[in-house]
Amino acid sequence: MRTIGVVTSGGDAPGMNAAIRAIVRVAQAHGIAVIGFERGWEGLIYDNVMSLTPRSVSGIIQQGGTILRTSRNKEFMTDEGMQKASVTLANNKVDGLIVIGGDGSFRAAHEFSKKTDTRIAGIPATIDNDVYGTDETIGFDTAVNTGVTEIDKIRDTATSLDRVFIVEVMGRTRGFLAAMIGLTVGAEIILVPEVKFQPEEVCDTILKNSAAGKKSGIIVAAEGIGDTHALAKEIQEHTRIETRLSVLGYAQRGGHPTARSRFLASVFGKAAVEFLADGKENLIAALQHGKVTGISFDESCCKSKELDLRLLKLARELSK
Ligand code: F6P
Repeated sequence: MRTIGVVTSGGDAPGMNAAIRAIVRVAQAHGIAVIGFERGWEGLIYDNVMSLTPRSVSGIIQQGGTILRTSRNKEFMTDEGMQKASVTLANNKVDGLIVIGGDGSFRAAHEFSKKTDTRIAGIPATIDNDVYGTDETIGFDTAVNTGVTEIDKIRDTATSLDRVFIVEVMGRTRGFLAAMIGLTVGAEIILVPEVKFQPEEVCDTILKNSAAGKKSGIIVAAEGIGDTHALAKEIQEHTRIETRLSVLGYAQRGGHPTARSRFLASVFGKAAVEFLADGKENLIAALQHGKVTGISFDESCCKSKELDLRLLKLARELSK
């Protein structure tokens, strides 16, 4: 293995830079050069390359976002797009490619692996934590902590004014972020797409809590549950308790990565380089029960990661 290419793809996640840094420095120890492709798959299609050296990745371990920038690129998924990407890899003499991203990026990488001779490895990085085969993705812990910091502030105003707040958090169609944030802010109610609910049940819980002396309430809702504006309105109308909606939005995707996100980035970066250096391919670096291992694109892409519903049960017990 002479040259590894790196691409960050899809939504950015805090810790992607720490992963790039780890890749470059571990590769150097193996005598492998590293180049980056800019703006996700677009960089492979249009041959936009950035040289990455142990010195050029200095001082990025603590930076959110990705120095390579990223994009959600549809052109890559066409035969023509993949053909152009293969030519770019050949022109740059890239014999190993590391894709840092989420499940969508891995599905694209999986397709591409069938059309290129370049060995591919993946590093899971998404705030959504929805990649099958790894207990955690880079960026999830940072987004959880960002959510917790903001909701602790919302709790202050909710308590002062005896209000209920719905706080909408990201997660696309999944509830990993909502469940972890909800548990750790002491939310009275957590709503996730994985568990169907009726607005009436939410109102009942709020009224019961109020009767039991709770003056405020925090509902952490995953964005994937649907219209949170309408839900806030419905709760206020039914319970006669002032209800506000706060959408945390894109702040959850930015900021300095936590120590945990940097740690995962570092160990995953090392694992991905070693997979390629050892002649392995189509593996995603993964954490399983505290151990770093690899899961195939094939398996990860066709399976859906389960949300541990015990978190929701525990949150309910603890918020009484
Ligand atoms: O996948 C990360 C994520 O932030 C999701 O939580 C969210 O639904 C989505 O990306 C937003 O995507 P975009 O940046 O394209 O608006």
